[in-house]
Amino acid sequence: MTLAICAQDISKNYNIQNVHTRALDTISLEISAGEFTLLTGPSGCGKSTLLAVLSGMTKPDRGTVQSGDFVLTAASDQERDAFRLHKCGFIFQGFNLFPGLTAVEQVQIPLDYLKIPEERARQRAERALDSVGLSHRKHLRPAEMSGGEKQRVAIARALVKKPAILFADEPTSALDRENGERVVAILRAIAHRIGSAVLCVSHDLRLFSQADRILEMEDGKLRRDLRRPRT
Ligand SMILES: Nc1ncnc2c1ncn2[C@@H]1O[C@H](COP(=O)(O)OP(=O)(O)OP(=O)(O)O)[C@@H](O)[C@H]1O
Ligand SMILES: [Mg+2]
Repeated sequence: MTLAICAQDISKNYNIQNVHTRALDTISLEISAGEFTLLTGPSGCGKSTLLAVLSGMTKPDRGTVQSGDFVLTAASDQERDAFRLHKCGFIFQGFNLFPGLTAVEQVQIPLDYLKIPEERARQRAERALDSVGLSHRKHLRPAEMSGGEKQRVAIARALVKKPAILFADEPTSALDRENGERVVAILRAIAHRIGSAVLCVSHDLRLFSQADRILEMEDGKLRRDLRRPRT
């Protein structure tokens, strides 16, 4: 299995107005390409902080994070921005779509940043929308779409550049059961078909049966690491 990210002994503390929080406490972890990994644990245990550290958005106080030869924890802000642009996709609970843009325009944005020519970018954006079952919605703006459709646009935007690593933070929590299951099936397919390492934070127990691996956190520590044989 190819390793997408390797983290060693990472710790992260927050000190705000004399309140000291140990958000991550000496966590070591490897995330593999082609695997759909679920990250779970109680509110405040450090899941979002862990995603931020693994994607280079936040620097840990101690420890190293590495992707291939690239050491995120030794890199400059600019180098980490470039790493995220070229290697990572992100999906969040609140969709984060631009109100004025149509679905296909939203999905095209990352390709514009990557300076992919307009015509090819448009074709790839349309294919990505097709892969999440939204070809027929490509000209709609967010206000004209359901929550499930908006989340699928956000997924298409994250997968259109075929990211090595896809980070998702509670992507199903604003969705009903049917849409939630659909989103999870798409995330799983991204890992298995595109070969991305998909790391998804979720509280939703119903999603567990879909994961290749389940990581459980508590109080900033990794408590359990359960890998399932592929079916
Ligand atoms: N920017 C920050 N400044 C200060 N404290 C923070 C900050 N971000 C997170 N924390 C604290 O760090 C701890 C871990 O937060 P984190 O957001 O990683 O938890 P989480 O597991 O994602 O929780 P949830 O399931 O509620 O989203 C919490 O106690 C939180 O209050
Ligand atoms: Mg969180």
